[in-house]
Amino acid sequence: MFDRIAPRYDRMNRLMTGRMDQRWRKELIRRLHIGDEDYVLDLACGTGDFAELARLETRHVVGLDFSREMLRGAQARRLAPVQLVQGDALRLPLRDGVITVAVSGFALRNFTSIPDMLVELARVLAPGGRLGLLEVDRPANPVVRAGHRVYFERVVPFVGGLLSDRSAYRYLPQSTVYMPSQDELVAMLREAGFARITKRRHAFGAAQSIMAVRQ
Ligand SMILES: C[S@@+](CC[C@H](N)C(=O)[O-])C[C@H]1O[C@@H](n2cnc3c(N)ncnc32)[C@H](O)[C@@H]1O
Repeated sequence: MFDRIAPRYDRMNRLMTGRMDQRWRKELIRRLHIGDEDYVLDLACGTGDFAELARLETRHVVGLDFSREMLRGAQARRLAPVQLVQGDALRLPLRDGVITVAVSGFALRNFTSIPDMLVELARVLAPGGRLGLLEVDRPANPVVRAGHRVYFERVVPFVGGLLSDRSAYRYLPQSTVYMPSQDELVAMLREAGFARITKRRHAFGAAQSIMAVRQ
């Protein structure tokens, strides 16, 4: 599915969020305080939005994804010196503790096991390493939530069908059922070895940024 949507993935992201996704990404990168000395992993990097921003802060950036076509999109951006790797987030081809900052955008819902992914991420992150996750969320306010539902469950699949792949953009709102609740996610992060967990809401709760530190 990700191979199929890759050619129009960036355009759909910008359209669906009115380009706000890039603002959320930049904010998260800023809050992670990445410096020259950091080794950054963009986990499930897709076409490399986070990797592209991270490389402005350090030369040491790895983007990993299992979709060949998504990686092709990242390659087309000429992100050198970013290293792009095809691989599985649940079996990272990285040594223990080599990463100091991990970011991942809009990927959580797609992993077959979030706890296993977090344990694997904790393995490659050095103690004190920072984690930043950007994800969709459900607005808490009932009125905003109702409007968001119409947009996310009707408008997005319709536009996605016109411009990209109908079944993939129908899956997008459905995939939110795989998102753990806030408390469940915090418990999973703690269990995997993360602390100092914080959450920031974007666009009235339509998206969220989670930050945590590897103990
Ligand atoms: C919605 S896209 C997000 C792409 C990018 N991170 C972004 O911020 O736009 C989800 C990505 O997760 C990747 N993915 C899903 N499961 C994966 C896994 N187990 N290992 C590696 N990549 C995975 C998909 O190939 C896809 O590129």
